Amino acid sequence: MQLIDGKAVAAQIKKEIADEVAQLKAEGRKVPHLAAILVGHDGGSETYVASKVRTCEEVGFKSSLIRYEDDVTEAELLKKVDELNNDPDVDGFIVQLPLPKHISEQKVIEAIDYRKDVDGFHPINVGRMSIGLPCFVSATPAGILELLKRYGIETQGKHCVVLGRSNIVGKPMATLMMQKAYPGNCTVTVCHSRSKNLKEMCQAADIIIVALGVPEFLKADMVKPGAVVIDVGTTRLPSSVTKSGFKLTGDVKFDEVAPLCSYITPVPGGVGPMTIISLMRNTLLAGKKAIYKDLPAV
Ligand code: GUN
Repeated sequence: MQLIDGKAVAAQIKKEIADEVAQLKAEGRKVPHLAAILVGHDGGSETYVASKVRTCEEVGFKSSLIRYEDDVTEAELLKKVDELNNDPDVDGFIVQLPLPKHISEQKVIEAIDYRKDVDGFHPINVGRMSIGLPCFVSATPAGILELLKRYGIETQGKHCVVLGRSNIVGKPMATLMMQKAYPGNCTVTVCHSRSKNLKEMCQAADIIIVALGVPEFLKADMVKPGAVVIDVGTTRLPSSVTKSGFKLTGDVKFDEVAPLCSYITPVPGGVGPMTIISLMRNTLLAGKKAIYKDLPAV
């Protein structure tokens, strides 16, 4: 069994990005600028956004954090999105999800200029990804592809089971694993909360990507010996042992599944660190106008 060390790979990519930013600076070019909108005080969102802002500093990007209280109106938020769309200094921006219930997440996502949508959530980016055109790919699936690539894991012709059908992870992951590329060229099955034969599907899988948000869902009796297991779960469970008062728990019962696997990602230190670094990579691409140089606003 080989552990996929997302922390180490993310550190390596962070250095690659920092070197490129230093080069941009040396050439007198603009450094990429990422803005993040955070609404409310959800513990998980606070932690993720703080980490995104800190990573921006570490790679040499400019960053802006825009905060609102829970009672911000949808109209106010849309006005800010419009402002960021039109601010030439901002190369890319994100609106941290989830948003309070009185705000339509879809409306906000669709208001973002797709050319600054470094989260890759806008339907134009999702659509372009699904037909294999250059676009911003959402950070978690992009990070997983990078891990598969950097570990040289064979994907062609393999049966990949994706557990979960969220717009952020499950759906794009399934699309990417079936695309005619490496990593990709898999036969993909998507299982979700209403699937009847989920266990049998998993038992037949060469690669299992678990993104359900159900702690320790994937057990040893669901995994074929030699399978590759990618754990996207990041549930914060209360803990009396850690300083923060919580413990990040994956969707895989790691201790019993790991000995069966050819490769497995741990939690923490697997997919998580790659997600933030993929956002940094998208921001670098946005800063360089590498994807949408000549395409118009919609
Ligand atoms: N909430 C959970 N994951 C994400 C993400 O990747 N981007 C944003 N904007 N919100 C999230």
